Amino acid sequence: MLVLLLTGWSAAYGEDGSRLWLRLEAAHNTATITGVKGTAMTELQTYWQGGPVVLKRQKGIARDGYTIKSQGGKIVIAAANDAGLLYGAYHLLRLQQCTTQNAQSIKDLDIKEQPAYDLRILNHWDNPNGTVERGFAGRSIFLNPDPERMKMYGRANASIGINGTVLNNVNAKPEALSSESLQKAKSIADQLRPYGIRVYLSINFASPIKVGGLKTADPLNPDVIHWWKDKVNEIYKLIPDFGGFLVKANSEGEPGPQDFGRTHADGANMLAKALQPHKGIVMWRAFVYAPQSPDRANQAYLEFMPLDGQFADNVIIQIKNGPVDFQPREPYSPLFTAMQKTPMMVEFQITQEYLGAANHLVYLAPMWKEFFSFVKPASLRAMAGVANIGDDTNWCGHHFAQANWYAFGRLAWNPELTSKEIAEEWLKLTFSTLDTLNSQLLSVMLDSREACVSYMMPLGIHHIFAGSHHYGPEPWYNPRGVRADWTPPYYHRADSVGLGFDRTMQGSGNVRQYPDELCRLYNDINTCPENLLAWFHHVPWDHRMKSGRTFWDELCHKYDDGVHEARHFLAVWDAMQPYVDSQRFDEVQHKLRIQARDAEWWRDACLLYFQTFSHRPIPQDMEHPVHNLNEMMQFRIPITMYENPEYGYNK
Ligand code: GCU
Repeated sequence: MLVLLLTGWSAAYGEDGSRLWLRLEAAHNTATITGVKGTAMTELQTYWQGGPVVLKRQKGIARDGYTIKSQGGKIVIAAANDAGLLYGAYHLLRLQQCTTQNAQSIKDLDIKEQPAYDLRILNHWDNPNGTVERGFAGRSIFLNPDPERMKMYGRANASIGINGTVLNNVNAKPEALSSESLQKAKSIADQLRPYGIRVYLSINFASPIKVGGLKTADPLNPDVIHWWKDKVNEIYKLIPDFGGFLVKANSEGEPGPQDFGRTHADGANMLAKALQPHKGIVMWRAFVYAPQSPDRANQAYLEFMPLDGQFADNVIIQIKNGPVDFQPREPYSPLFTAMQKTPMMVEFQITQEYLGAANHLVYLAPMWKEFFSFVKPASLRAMAGVANIGDDTNWCGHHFAQANWYAFGRLAWNPELTSKEIAEEWLKLTFSTLDTLNSQLLSVMLDSREACVSYMMPLGIHHIFAGSHHYGPEPWYNPRGVRADWTPPYYHRADSVGLGFDRTMQGSGNVRQYPDELCRLYNDINTCPENLLAWFHHVPWDHRMKSGRTFWDELCHKYDDGVHEARHFLAVWDAMQPYVDSQRFDEVQHKLRIQARDAEWWRDACLLYFQTFSHRPIPQDMEHPVHNLNEMMQFRIPITMYENPEYGYNK
């Protein structure tokens, strides 16, 4: 009983994760909420347990910003628009949830907030048939949108400042623009509007052909231009505040303007012109690479730099944080510092495609903060995150994966927040305000990304995942006929000399895409940060590391450290049993066991495989592989890219 009181866990609700970080109790007090009516008022009336609150519209506060002030025994929330009032209301409710005292004690407030970006947007990779590409938390919440679920989705997003959502996969099916889908998008937009969220759609560039029956989708063809204009008008009739389009073009087989001899700018600007009268925008992705490219990491820069300054004002180029593809660690994409005349936004991946899916506890804020230590937040126009949301009861498949959705929203609002601040806040909201629990779990969260890098691909190694699902290791995957840049050997290049991709001036020249100072730093194997060594260099097995060990020995130790960390996470969690409700305790424990097992699988598979090239012994002072290579090479997880593996490595 004592424990329940301590944790603040309410038996009134099952703790199944469905309430995310909004584990608010309905207020039974009579606090008066006065002023502007709307969602902010409803939320406060339902959940606020403190003193009287006044909601007030006020000019001079930036869009979506708000102030919260204690004035004459009341709390005054002021904002320029309804969204600002709503964000202010959630701020207040967050204070209530985080305090160990009674909400009545919340006073002397003088808060001023303003979002760093006007656009804070989720990208759902949801397909019309309900599957979610790289989705690990069940099926699409938009398949048969359940009003209660939509409401919770709206509240959750608004509570962290997210104000946009792209409803469908970037690999967009043409039917995304059919009348039926647009009706559905309208219904979702209507449900999300009270929460300040606009909807956007991914489009297939060949839609004029596939939906419109035209002979071409050439962006300079008058019929095509006309078709898009009509389509856009049709959308705005249904959804007057529609946000715009997200486009993946000429990438991984998707159609695009290059199919008609045109450029990305031609394609993006044509769509932008159709959207412009309605104040809609185009988010045009820079995720492009071609099978013939000698270095995939070079490609986006090569295609987009010549177009810098040629995009219409309502086009934003959406660039993944790294130049390859959401790896556990990549350097930042050099386009961010190179493009000077084009609005850019970063695309982070919240769903853990390359980070253990919904089985591994990996808190991603440190990875995103690492990006921001190279790319100034102010140089960007917006932030997008590929959602990790599905119809699983707990929304994200893993209770701790909710923290990544949360962190994304908080950072899109304020990229200056630290990983620690966000994790502390999330833990208090999601589990409890108990110090013992928070300090222990905080360090697990903060260490988890680096641990994952260690047991999966330390020291700059990248993309050595299984061919079909990106969950486990398959550094040997190299079937005939598969394009080289879809196989791990293209990236790791293991041979008798060493390991890693030579991107120096003598190699692919990728270092040249970075500003001079970084170029020099990365180009020299002795100054290149060791956590990116095999990203930029083909590192000789005997290269001397700062620790004094050879590269091979260091690699072995890193993998082993990762395994020990994963086991440590499990041990910490086990000790938390008295403080956590039983359902979430069991579910997280189950996942952490998978993670610890998978970490061994990664270590053993990678070291034993690379050892066939290095011909060096595993150092004596570490735990030796407990599996054998052949067995692991036979092991298959029969999942598609739409599923989370149930057990991970279970041989
Ligand atoms: C990765 C991912 C794909 C996705 C693509 C993209 O390659 O594996 O599923 O479509 O990124 O971002 O477009």
